Amino acid sequence: MELTNLFPTPAGVPDAHQQPYLEQREWLVDGELRAWRGPLMEVVSPICTREGERLTPKVIGAFPALTSTEALECLDAAVRAWDAGRGQWPTMTVEARIGCVARFTAAMKEKRAEIVRLLMWEIGKSYADSCKEFDRTIEYVHATIEALKELDRSSSRFELVEGIAAQVRRAPFGVTLCMGPFNYPLNETFTTLIPALIMGNTVLFKPARYGVLLNRPLLEAFRDCFPKGVVNTLYGDGKALIGPVMQTGKVDVLAFIGSAATANLIEKQHPFPNRLRTVLGLNAKNPAIVLDDADLPSAVKECLAGALSFNGQRCTALKILFVQRKLADRFVAELSRGVDALVPGMPWDDGAQVTPLPESGKRQSLEALVDDAKAKGARVVNAKGGLTAGTLYFPAVLYPVPLGSRLANEEQFGPVVPVVPFGDEKEVLDFVAASSFGQQASVFSTSAERLAKLIDPLVNQVCRVNVNSMCQRGPDVFPFTGRKDSADGTLSVSDALRAFSIRTLVAAKQGPLNEGLLRTIVRERKSGFLSTDFIF
Ligand code: G3H
Repeated sequence: MELTNLFPTPAGVPDAHQQPYLEQREWLVDGELRAWRGPLMEVVSPICTREGERLTPKVIGAFPALTSTEALECLDAAVRAWDAGRGQWPTMTVEARIGCVARFTAAMKEKRAEIVRLLMWEIGKSYADSCKEFDRTIEYVHATIEALKELDRSSSRFELVEGIAAQVRRAPFGVTLCMGPFNYPLNETFTTLIPALIMGNTVLFKPARYGVLLNRPLLEAFRDCFPKGVVNTLYGDGKALIGPVMQTGKVDVLAFIGSAATANLIEKQHPFPNRLRTVLGLNAKNPAIVLDDADLPSAVKECLAGALSFNGQRCTALKILFVQRKLADRFVAELSRGVDALVPGMPWDDGAQVTPLPESGKRQSLEALVDDAKAKGARVVNAKGGLTAGTLYFPAVLYPVPLGSRLANEEQFGPVVPVVPFGDEKEVLDFVAASSFGQQASVFSTSAERLAKLIDPLVNQVCRVNVNSMCQRGPDVFPFTGRKDSADGTLSVSDALRAFSIRTLVAAKQGPLNEGLLRTIVRERKSGFLSTDFIF
């Protein structure tokens, strides 16, 4: 198999997937698309072009390298739109805000083809998975709207307790900085951006380093569907932009999905830590625990998909496989066969499962992890493991990986699968307990009794235990969170609405005066908050 030949020649990209050079100069601030005249940052696609044997990274566009001046303008616009909670957006009725988000979603749907193509070119995601990411995002927004309607309906009433009448609702926090990850640059960003917006917060939105251009088709819709200053875009080097914004102390919520190290750096710059709310999705190293009575074909299938979907670049990926010794050799042989049968190719190639990696220097960092594990006694057991060309890296299965290796402890976030043999379940449970990660785990066995003995200790170490199934975030109505260094806050369609708002109430001692006043406010619709209107 010659990986190099999988890259297209300059003329070899199918017409339907051609990506014209996209020079983005526009950035959205205070309801305006401004044209940036300053320096740009190049977007280099993970898809290289091939001339003979030579692979050249393809530059597909550029976006503004804004400076701290523009970042602070964005912040000021968001602060003005919030206006200490008196702005048009935070005081708008829930129904009217839902209307804005619904209009935005309708406009977004029209951009599907452009966004899907950019997902392929910017992060190397397969066509099928790029379509799935787009469609899942639209469904998420629809589900969010329905969940908010339900939340609003249940709050559209007064409670009478101990002589006090109160209406309890959820109110926004203020200015929210949303930063998404490169692996789901649309979906994961929108799973914080949309709930933050729909609850009445104003937003600064900074795309991840890879997956910036795909937001360009949405800028007009953001401008046209929301009041000015409610959505503002930050483009450029995060280090240059985020520090000055945080140091003002004017950001009320940080929604960040990425590494714990970066989240810590950002949080630390805020001068009033108690004022800053955080919603964080951070590193994970989800283990699979395969007992010796597991159903082998199904355990291998789930572990393979769990470890290597989108080249292992999922926060929920299975990043370490513990296999009980009696089954380990057979498991590894089956897994290696399955991995070697994966189809490498370009994102648009039919059935491509191994696609180019977007992160610069990724191949080297994977090789360093593999070399360290090899030096400590592991072997690459699949024939094609570690073959590379340009940005393609064929997944490598390593076995037996010692617990003292970097690969057993660090998040690889890529196509390297460490398999660790074990004897007693306690060895694995101790490892999980000592780990700084705590997102999810998968357990594989055909024994109800043995599964139960793993489930009970694991639910106190991670936040989702998957039985004979890979780890995953979805369905999106399920709570998605983590313990230890893996997350702060819970996301799901309905939990996200709670994460970006706070329960707030208006209360009055009962009596003729107060009851009359409350009745008049409600009947004459004098308040957006105090209201018993029912959204259908
Ligand atoms: O990167 C982390 C994503 O939230 C994972 O989502 O499990 O649906 O692929 P997923």
